[in-house]
Formats: sequence, C-alpha cells, structure tokens
Amino acid sequence: MIIAIDGPAASGKGTLGKRIAEHYRLAYLDTGSLYRAVARDVLGQGHDPADPATALASAKALDASTLGDPALRAPGLGEAASLVASFPEVRQALLAYQRAFARPRPGAVLDGRDIGTVICPDAQVKLFVTATPEERARRRYRELTQAGIPISEAEVLADIRRRDERDRSRAAAPLRQAADAYLLDTTNLDIDAAFTAAIDMIDTAMGRAGHAS
Ligand code: CDP
Repeated sequence: MIIAIDGPAASGKGTLGKRIAEHYRLAYLDTGSLYRAVARDVLGQGHDPADPATALASAKALDASTLGDPALRAPGLGEAASLVASFPEVRQALLAYQRAFARPRPGAVLDGRDIGTVICPDAQVKLFVTATPEERARRRYRELTQAGIPISEAEVLADIRRRDERDRSRAAAPLRQAADAYLLDTTNLDIDAAFTAAIDMIDTAMGRAGHAS
C-alpha cells in the first residue's frame, strides 16, 4: 500500500507521515529532504540555488545516505530547496529514487508536494494536509526555537508564504490537491487528533478499495 501525503510548508506532513508509517508498518520518505539536500550541496559548493545547471548536477550526484542529516531542517534551506525544486530537470533527476523507494512491499508513506499528482498517482490513499499559514508558522516557530535556532515568528510566516506561493505557481509539478485526495485541515487539531482523523480517512479509503494491505 502506498500512502501519499501532500501539503504546503510546515503543515505537519512529516510528523503525521512518520506516525502513519509506524502504524501500518510501512517505510517512510520525507521527499522534502531530497530537495533540501540538493540545496545544501549547491550552497556548500558556493553555487547559486537559482542556477538550474548546478542544481541539476547536485541532484544527479545526490548521496541518499545523507538524507537524515538534521542540518537539512535549517530554515534557509527551505527557501533554497524551493528554488531548486522549481526546475523540471531537478525534479526529473529525483523521480526514480522516489518511485523506487515506494515500490517494495508492503509499501510506503511518502510526503511532499507532488506525491499524489506526479510521483505516485496510483497511490491507494492520498491525503492533502493543510492549516492556515498563521498556525503553520506558529508550529514551525516552536519547533525551530526548541531546536535552538534563533528566528522570529514573523520571519517564519514570511518564509512559509513565499515558498507556498512559489510551490503553487511553478510550472513543474505545482503543489495542489489531487482530485482523489482527502483534505485534512489541521488548523484546529493537535497532533493526536490529526493522526486519528488521518487513520479514519486511510481505513475508509482502504475499505473502499476492498483490501487492507
Ligand atoms: O518541511 P517543510 O514543509 O518546510 O518543507 P519540505 O517538505 O522539507 O520541502 C522543502 C521544499 O522542497 C518545498 O518548499 C518545496 O519547494 C520542495 N519540495 C517539492 O517541491 N516537492 C516535494 N515532493 C517535496 C518538497
């Protein structure tokens, strides 16, 4: 079973995705970490993330064993990731890795922006997770502050709005809800309530599909 989770920045996809994967004993991939890692490598080599040629070279040379690097969560990398992610050739270079990750049995949970629309359009279950920009900024600000990263909530909100706008308006695999995705608005839900709502949606979808694995 493949579960596709998409949504805007800091919507809680990662936390939810991990818990859903544990619940169903599936593998889990945070696909944002791929774009963040490309951005890290581009910046690390002193290049400009707005340059498609160097972004593509880094995407092709990406070392997947570095995807768990906690430094990938740094706020500046979100912005640079969104820049490299706007190039179709970069997305194409990262596509095979994501599909290969999703394929082995018993399946996987992938979260990102285009999982239900481009990477795994045949996923058995698709969730589109959102919350208001203000609520998302509040959560991401709390997370960064707890990790000791100095930043203001206003900066976090501005970053989220800028990235959402770029991710939604780009030509290549823009962020959008797949026609067959369940919408999960977590603005007024804590993580436990969001998890319970997600499990209900997934079990309903699997019941409709007529099998449970
Ligand atoms: O965790 P957060 O929601 O802040 O971002 P992320 O999921 O780590 O993604 C960082 C950036 O990578 C996003 O703003 C997107 O531009 C890009 N991305 C994408 O284009 N496609 C994906 N499947 C995942 C991320």
